[in-house]
Order: sequence, then C-alpha cells, then structure tokens
Amino acid sequence: MGQSRRQFVGRLSGGAALGSLAGFSAEALAAPAADLGVGKAPDDEAYWRWIAREFLTYPNVAHMNTGTRGVSPRSVVKAQFDAIQRYDSDYLSYARYVNNTDFRIRLRAKLAAFVGCKSNEIAVTNNTTEGMAFGTFGIDFKAGDEIIYTNHDHSSGAQPVNLCAARFRVKPVVVDLAAPEFHPPENADSVVKAFEQAITRRTKLISFCHINYTDGCVLPVKQICEMARAKGILTLVDGAHPPGMMDLDIHELGCDMYAGAGHKWLMASMLTGFFFVREDIQDRVWPIVYSGPVNGTNMYGEPVPDTDYYNQAKSAARFEMRGSLNFANAASLDAALDFHSRLTPSAIEARDRYMAGRVREGLRNIPGVSVHVSDDPGMSCGIVSFAVSGVDPVEVNDMLWARHRLYIRNVAHAEIDWNVNRASLHIMVHGGHIDTLIGAVAELAKERGV
Ligand SMILES: Cc1ncc(COP(=O)(O)O)c(C=O)c1O
Repeated sequence: MGQSRRQFVGRLSGGAALGSLAGFSAEALAAPAADLGVGKAPDDEAYWRWIAREFLTYPNVAHMNTGTRGVSPRSVVKAQFDAIQRYDSDYLSYARYVNNTDFRIRLRAKLAAFVGCKSNEIAVTNNTTEGMAFGTFGIDFKAGDEIIYTNHDHSSGAQPVNLCAARFRVKPVVVDLAAPEFHPPENADSVVKAFEQAITRRTKLISFCHINYTDGCVLPVKQICEMARAKGILTLVDGAHPPGMMDLDIHELGCDMYAGAGHKWLMASMLTGFFFVREDIQDRVWPIVYSGPVNGTNMYGEPVPDTDYYNQAKSAARFEMRGSLNFANAASLDAALDFHSRLTPSAIEARDRYMAGRVREGLRNIPGVSVHVSDDPGMSCGIVSFAVSGVDPVEVNDMLWARHRLYIRNVAHAEIDWNVNRASLHIMVHGGHIDTLIGAVAELAKERGV
C-alpha cells in the first residue's frame, strides 16, 4: 500500500512530523479550508470526487464502513495532531490556548448550533455508548417501571436497559422490529404503532435508535417522541449515525435525550461524541461519572463561587465533569464541525442520499440480491443493508476487499434471524466506488448462480 509501516512511523517521528502523514505534505494538510467551497449538487461527481481526495484513505481503497468508523478529512487529522504536538511542546501555553474552559464553552456552542439545540443542553462525550449509559443510568427508576427498547437496537442502548432491569427490578419491554413487515417497513405509522403497543402505564423511558445500525432504517423519531411526551414518558435516542449524515435538528425531533457519535459520520477522531439533555428535564438525569459541585458546594461543603465552573454544573455540561478530557480529540471535533459547516450539512446529506439511492437501485436490479432498507426518504438515508441469496455476508465482505479493496461490513444476529451486508455511503466514497460495488456484487451473484 505505497509505504511500509516503518516508513510511515518514521515520517511521523521526523522533524516535520505532522505534515508528512501518509505522504501528504505539511502544505496539503494545512490547505486553507475555504478552498473546499460550499457543497454542490449531489450528482456533481467532479466536485464530490475532489472532496473525497480530502481524506487520507489510500486512493485504491473505498471506505464504505463509516457506520462503524468514519475516516477524517485532513483538516481534522491536522487539528488533532497539532493539538498533541503543541501540548507536548509547551504544555502551559497550549493549555491556556485550547485545553481550557473558554474553548470548551465555544465547542459546546458550536456543537449545539450544529445539532439544533441550546448550548446548555449538550456535553461532549467519548462516544455514543457513554451517552446511552448517561441517559439510562441517570434516571431514578423504581421496581416495576418499564423501559422500552427494540431488538434492532445496538447493545450500547439495549444493555444499559437490561443492567437497570437487573439492578432496579425494572422491566424491559422489547419492540419486535425484526418482524418481516419491518424489512423494509411499509410506512412510518406501522413503526409508531409497534412502539405504541408496547407502552403501558408503567412505561418510564423509551430508548431507541434514530437510525438502526442493522438495516439502516430511519425511525420516525418525531412521532414516537410526541406520543411519549403526551403520556409523560421520557425518550432517549441512540444517534450514533445521523450526526454528520443528516442535517440534524434535535429540538425538531422533540426527544428528551440524544446520544451521538463524533467518530462516525461526523468524521472527527476516535473517541468523540455528545450527549443532549433537554433543558426542562435536566434535574431528572443524574450524572453517573462526576467530580463537580454537588448542590452548589465543593467537597468540603463550601459554596462554589458563581463562575463558569459553577454554571457548568447547572447545565448538561456537567456530563463533562468527569476527570481529564481528551483535548486533542476535542480539537478534532471542533475542526470536524467546521468541515461540515463549510460544505453544509444539507449538501452532505443530499450527496449521501444520492449515493445510497444509486446503491439501492443497482443492487435491487441484480437477480438474487435483496435490499432491506426502504426507498422512502423518510425511512432511509446513507446506510444500505442487503443480502446475496445463499452467500454468507462474511464471504461478500471478503470478496469485495480481496478483489476491489472495498470495505463494507456485515451485521449478524442469529437470535433475530438477521444476517446482512451493510454499506455506508458518505463523502469519502464516490461514484466510481459505487459502480465497483454494484458490479462486484453482480459478478458474485452470477458466479454463485443465484
Ligand atoms: C446504533 C449504534 N449505537 C451505538 C453504537 C456504539 O457507538 P460508539 O462506538 O460511538 O459508542 C453503534 C456503533 O456502531 C451503533 O451503530
């Protein structure tokens, strides 16, 4: 792949270390972001191919697994590396420059504006899983309370529910989204109805995905949250996928809590995410990892002065009061938000939808290939789940990688009879990769006589 690991590491450790990453010059890594312009029409292939070159992925590799881990554009990689280098070269001045309260306040404000909430409603986290745990374990449950989740949730959302069940004798109630009528669902109402049927007068929380990682289905979050709110039930949304893929407006969705990832579609570094808690329910969600003021006092029982620190404890930002934080990751999240804002979230979403639409159509036209996500724009976006009849999805992955250096994944859960391939279409991917994917799956289906 162009250079050995030793050459790669050697370059990083050299004098002009940061600039030499994977063959990029310092100038290339530092290219003025304004050069990217504003995102163009989704089918402007030349423009989006140019954007795809902003990523460090080797030119012969197609990264179609953003659903697991997005790769970062070079401005984001550079921001993270710069932060580490400055910190290690001159800790004190760097700490004053970035690793401080003002920077965190600015970052939260930027993040809040990006996802559509107030800056006192958001905390930077390490990942989605943390946010799902904060939202579930933070609530006071009594024995007999019920929590709804679905069997297409990720374990990051489902297992905190089951742990609460074990600890507080709360009853988990599972919505069966594995039923054949949901693959794909005929309409959003059928999904809302499935949730409605699971609600009882003891339901305290509904925890569910905005986009299922299993099939790519976009759930009708707004309708589910409206229904829950009307019944006094809290909602916690697993938003591992939409931030960076969809033009997100959390207030518009109407949920109480939302846990997002930064390291997937937002394309920030690993270990970035956020947790949203609606202003008017913040006093009902206890922080579970915490070192800040308690009832306005410090550990000696003395009142904490009315400073930024004190105010942080009174907002969702108290979920950041959990010891040392990774400042370099925060710098990368900051740069990732800038990258998205420059291209605009709506242009990125349109491009992802356009590419996913091409993949759905191309795969559906291949005999023996089934597509498990809807064409309805309200129920799908950048993830396409599919299966080649009689071919193990792991074999499909392996073939795509071995023959084409095309990286997708499979999602297998025998318990719910689920075993598919999953392609994530995001802006490091371009039309050439899509043609390769469709052609390769057609070739495999033909070879296997399906
Ligand atoms: C729907 C969903 N929720 C949660 C997670 C866990 O995400 P994280 O690694 O950000 O904690 C994933 C990871 O793929 C996911 O797909």
